[in-house]
Amino acid sequence: METRTETVDRSAPAAERDVVIRFENVSKRFGSKVVLDGLNLEVFRGETLVIMGPSGTGKSVTLRHVIGLMKPDSGRVTVEGHDMGKIRPKELAELRRNMGYLFQDAALINWLNVRDNVALPLRENTDMEEDEILQRVEAKLDLVHLPDILDKMPSELSGGMRKRVGLARALITEPKLILYDEPNAGLDPEISASINALIRDIQKQLEITSVVITHLLSCVRTVANRVVLLEKGKVVLEGKKDEFLASKHPRLLQFLGDSDD
Ligand SMILES: Nc1ncnc2c1ncn2[C@@H]1O[C@H](COP(=O)(O)OP(=O)(O)OP(=O)(O)O)[C@@H](O)[C@H]1O
Ligand SMILES: [Mg+2]
Repeated sequence: METRTETVDRSAPAAERDVVIRFENVSKRFGSKVVLDGLNLEVFRGETLVIMGPSGTGKSVTLRHVIGLMKPDSGRVTVEGHDMGKIRPKELAELRRNMGYLFQDAALINWLNVRDNVALPLRENTDMEEDEILQRVEAKLDLVHLPDILDKMPSELSGGMRKRVGLARALITEPKLILYDEPNAGLDPEISASINALIRDIQKQLEITSVVITHLLSCVRTVANRVVLLEKGKVVLEGKKDEFLASKHPRLLQFLGDSDD
């Protein structure tokens, strides 16, 4: 008979196991500036959570806590059950193998060409053969509508192209948890719509969990299951997509009134 090592904690209630990311009363300040102010947030397995909110309100800082690039001053961030304030480097590396992230500014490495930028997570984290890596790189660049730019350097690309190369890199390991910081910023409407469709298609695959930061309603409509409005480091409104969009909450109306979508 086959024996398996069970890694799931069977003592936890089912709903507990389905939480992929949890922020519990998380505060973070830089100098005297409070950025996250008692943030509570959960992301459930298989869902796409969209985070909206005014500029400077802590959206990117929130994602940086999930990746383990920032630690809370107080409160707790857990990702797949790991306390990100205490996680050991080896566990963090393992966790990141299953996590893809697109930074707001794409964060490409200036001295590497597009091929090497996109291949980086595979070369750093896997033993994949070089032939297979190159095939994957080309497939992901096709997916973001950027064939034939393998040898270009980041400085030769437009902002929108850099963003899409960053997206190809985020997807290259085929992660189960994907974090997108403003995936449409700087893209023309047609490409923006195709990136939204791509995010939606990826999410249809089994058990992909996504967090998307955006200020575009077109993106919310295409990709979201649930939406939160963040303001001054706290969630001020939260709901399933349709409920959220139908809400007459004054902070939402003001936010939408101020945005250009
Ligand atoms: N490493 C850092 N050091 C100091 N201050 C920081 C740092 N990172 C972020 N901040 C500050 O934290 C606040 C929130 O920043 P964050 O990047 O999370 O905003 P945001 O909601 O993503 O805004 P935007 O919509 O403009 O991207 C800002 O005032 C920012 O200047
Ligand atoms: Mg940001």
